[in-house]
Amino acid sequence: MSKISFRSYLIFLFLPTLLIIIHHHHHHRRNNNDNDNDDDNASTDLSLSTNSRWIVDDRNNGERVKLSCVSWVSHLEVAVAEGLSKQPVDAISKMIVEMGFNCVRLTYPLFLFTDDKLGSMTMRQSLQKWGLFGTVAGVQVNNPSLVDLSLVNVFQEIVSNLNNNNVMVILDNHLSKPGWCCNENDDDGFFGDLYFDPEVWIEGICRVASMFKGYTNVVGMSLRNELRGHKQNLNDWYKYMQKGAERVHAANPNVLVILSGLNYDLDLSFLRTNPISVSFSRKLVFEIHWYGFSDGDDWITGNLNEVCGRVIDRLTSNALFLLDQGYPLFMSEWGVDQTGTNENDNRYLNCLMGWAAEHDIDWALWTIVGSYYYREGVSGWDETYGLLNWDWRGPRSSSFLKKISPLQSPFQALGSSSTSEHKILFHPSTGLCMHNHSLSLGPCSNAMALDYTLEKTLILKGTNYCLQANALHKPVKLDTACHADSSSKWEAISASKMHLSSKTKNDTIVCLDIDTNNIIVTNICKCLSREYLCDPSSQWFKIINSTSFNLAPPIIDLINVQHNSYLL
Ligand SMILES: *[C@@H]1O[C@H](CO)[C@@H](O)[C@H](O)[C@H]1NC(C)=O
Ligand SMILES: *[C@@H]1O[C@H](CO)[C@@H](O)[C@H](O)[C@H]1NC(C)=O
Ligand SMILES: *[C@@H]1O[C@H](CO)[C@@H](O)[C@H](O)[C@H]1NC(C)=O
Ligand SMILES: *[C@@H]1O[C@H](CO)[C@@H](O)[C@H](O)[C@H]1NC(C)=O
Repeated sequence: MSKISFRSYLIFLFLPTLLIIIHHHHHHRRNNNDNDNDDDNASTDLSLSTNSRWIVDDRNNGERVKLSCVSWVSHLEVAVAEGLSKQPVDAISKMIVEMGFNCVRLTYPLFLFTDDKLGSMTMRQSLQKWGLFGTVAGVQVNNPSLVDLSLVNVFQEIVSNLNNNNVMVILDNHLSKPGWCCNENDDDGFFGDLYFDPEVWIEGICRVASMFKGYTNVVGMSLRNELRGHKQNLNDWYKYMQKGAERVHAANPNVLVILSGLNYDLDLSFLRTNPISVSFSRKLVFEIHWYGFSDGDDWITGNLNEVCGRVIDRLTSNALFLLDQGYPLFMSEWGVDQTGTNENDNRYLNCLMGWAAEHDIDWALWTIVGSYYYREGVSGWDETYGLLNWDWRGPRSSSFLKKISPLQSPFQALGSSSTSEHKILFHPSTGLCMHNHSLSLGPCSNAMALDYTLEKTLILKGTNYCLQANALHKPVKLDTACHADSSSKWEAISASKMHLSSKTKNDTIVCLDIDTNNIIVTNICKCLSREYLCDPSSQWFKIINSTSFNLAPPIIDLINVQHNSYLL
């Protein structure tokens, strides 16, 4: 995570790694370096590749795998995965799974694998070096078997434990020198900086690639997080990223090779006209970061529709075009202040949710960490962007987890027959969808399957019924007279394109909205432009592609019931 403002250049960053989980495979590591026998434990056995813009599992008929990761920080001064003084590693892995993630982005500092003095130091020694004696006591209680292992071995144990819990891992080289990441002048931001010698970097990431060859849950490697600083230039980006990618692929052909862009991983626009060239195929993924603070306080000082539209336009030209070039795009950092009090973050989140669902993007949330051992000179730093609370005992915000849960499952499978392709109506600010048995919101797993026609009508899949505006402040209704008038036309309006607008019988222009019981109604369209105090997001809906849901046509009796009760 970097606290960089896109415009201000005042920065402090932190960077993670990824881990991934897979539910369907029950094999052990291909080629375990350890002697232990983990036949009794579920673990992953998969090999991920890319198929156009999708990430797929070659060992499972090329089925799509959606990365729903959380970053687990292991790159700060002590160079140990955070939280081990608060909870046993296995308890943390199990919480990650229970919270619906299939993957961890596990961050590491390069020097952990290039400086043998650092890598061979024990966890106890490393904590003591930073004066963290209370933390040592906590690790002794919660992870006694890890406290006297070397830092490299602890890192391996984390990966193994995630494997035992079926969690995929993406190893993320967050920076070189252990510590909080990043800023403009930390001399650790671009090739040629004091702490970022390109040759040492390639040697280090290759060592990591070889070391984790035997771990089948290590499905990807992010070669370097958030490139930045005054040395940034495109020549070196192409030169070293291509070289690093080739060398990592040669050392470990199993992993996805994940490349980040310039300016704190906000910018991959240069690939539009100048594609990267590597000798291997179906293994390259690009990553992008997107935070609310990337745009300062624009989300609360501007009109929300306009800000959302503008930021998404920028994302499209900086990164999203890569999907059309046939590469997956991994949103490897995003997140919000989980206390819920940061209105800038709350508003950004609704915009992000609509975008991430629409493009069914792979992602990693910042972060699982509840508190850090030691960050920027402070021990026990409380991470307000963390999913877990300070003592790592439970979620900071269960409503946040519930809201993002639809993004954790794929909306679209791959190669599904055209008959199962349909649309669903997603409501970002609740994380819910128009439900299949009432004209209200419910879990997206039971979303109503729709077709969105060229005439802009929303037809219930497999029926003659379409969604119609009824009257101002009244629930929408279903009708079979679908082309008769403009009340069955739904147009995406405003700069965010997230208001669905229609007209009532007496020609009042209305927008879809929800009432206090999550019933879908039509109201006067809110704050379409200019106004910045009002928040339009109760009226934000996205018509998104889906293949994954129950496609049994709605039962006609039910339709009639709905029809009658909403026909006012
Ligand atoms: C299975 O996993 C648990 C914790 O995840 C671990 O303690 C145990 O040693 C593993 N069993 C084997 C046989 O490796
Ligand atoms: C949704 O599916 C349609 C039809 O396959 C396709 O043209 C469109 O690009 C898809 N939209 C997104 C956002 O992927
Ligand atoms: C349409 O009906 C609504 C009430 O349902 C009313 O508020 C509005 O003024 C009417 N508009 C016109 C153009 O008659
Ligand atoms: C709604 O979805 C549930 C669960 O997928 C399914 O059991 C039910 O039959 C569906 N209802 C309708 C009306 O399609």
